[in-house]
Amino acid sequence: MPTPISGFSKLTKEEKINWLATQYSTESKSTIAILKNYWNSDTNLQQLHDEFIENTISNFYLPLGIAPNFLINNNLLAIPMAIEESSVVAAASRSAKFWLERGGFKATILGTEKVGQVHFIFKGDSKKLTTFFGKIKPVLLSSTKHLTQSMEKRGGGILDIVLRDKTDVLPDYFQLHCTFETKDAMGANFINSCLEQLAKTIKDEAKKYSSFTQIEKEIEMVMSILSNYVPNCVVRAEVSCPIDDLNVKADITPIAFANKIVRAVQIANVEPHRAVTHNKGIMNGVDAVVLATGNDFRAIEAGVHAYAAKDGYYRSLTSASIKENIFNFSIELPLALGTVGGLTSIHPLAKLSLEILQKPSAEELMQIIAVAGLAQNFAALSALVTTGIQEGHMKMHLGNILNQLEATVAEKHILTKRFSKETVSHTAVAEALKDLKNN
Ligand code: MEV
Repeated sequence: MPTPISGFSKLTKEEKINWLATQYSTESKSTIAILKNYWNSDTNLQQLHDEFIENTISNFYLPLGIAPNFLINNNLLAIPMAIEESSVVAAASRSAKFWLERGGFKATILGTEKVGQVHFIFKGDSKKLTTFFGKIKPVLLSSTKHLTQSMEKRGGGILDIVLRDKTDVLPDYFQLHCTFETKDAMGANFINSCLEQLAKTIKDEAKKYSSFTQIEKEIEMVMSILSNYVPNCVVRAEVSCPIDDLNVKADITPIAFANKIVRAVQIANVEPHRAVTHNKGIMNGVDAVVLATGNDFRAIEAGVHAYAAKDGYYRSLTSASIKENIFNFSIELPLALGTVGGLTSIHPLAKLSLEILQKPSAEELMQIIAVAGLAQNFAALSALVTTGIQEGHMKMHLGNILNQLEATVAEKHILTKRFSKETVSHTAVAEALKDLKNN
């Protein structure tokens, strides 16, 4: 039975590992060996990673893959993707090649507005609060000047502050709903610092406001935090081609294929169970690039799914239509991203990924990532409405099973050939490998 520990964070890395191995492992030697095996031999690089978070004991690798041939607004890009799931990079690459030969992807920014809120409780006359807010709005803005100056030089800053009366949903609840432009930064630190200053200013000003009663002067601050729901920080990406160019497979006509894709999207629009999986496939592409470029995939996930449910019903992020013999396929999603600050410049692979992407601005990265999501969805739907996804998945699955069973290169070669005609299962592959080794 493990015992609780105090002062764990003060232990050295070595001591933390030893403690962990003795408390939570039956094979403490091998636990220590595995953890150390993933340390980088470059001690500076290791230290950099150790300092990203707290209580670091090792590194957790994810593969970094490349999906080439993405033609986006006439720029040819190779997209770095960090992801553990097999078939995702292959699917992205297939889609990229397919649309490269059909004019490529077009992407447009629909908005870049970020959001943050100061949540507070005001027990009093809401009309008086509105008057007070009107009077102190310039004071609120000027109180953040020391924080906004350099962002303003880059063309960003606070766009607006609005007082919102939320007492219909929670008694005495009000908020300052603030909108921001943060240019190439994701802006979380900037936004949160501004919000905390606004909270302090409004509280201080209320205390001095002579028209407030004593209770009205005591605004109860609850919290100040950015919102990951950014329905006005949205990008659109699209592809289109004449129906006849949708010659994806020999056994399905282009028009039948186009109709099936349209149907698949219609289903995802009306059936949440399908929509969640449909959008999950999109996020395979989105998250992989978000992660590779050092952005916050949890923020993106939260915001995207909220957006998918913005009209009160969880729907597809993509749309598909056929008009005048042209097939159109598009995606619209909110992406609050940065190409400066945070991990983007300090994680060597994130920095390199951005270099591979030709050092995009945040808006360009939004476009690239929306395209990655659209490409992924096109690949998934193309497989689902034709052969099904297992055919492609099984090839990769077989590779993973063979690695797990420690097959040699020669054995992998023989068994890959053999299983191209047989159903892949762990048992079947293990037996085939055993037979091969015995003969
Ligand atoms: C698997 O990771 C993603 C898919 O399920 C997406 C979809 O069903 O559209 C293939």
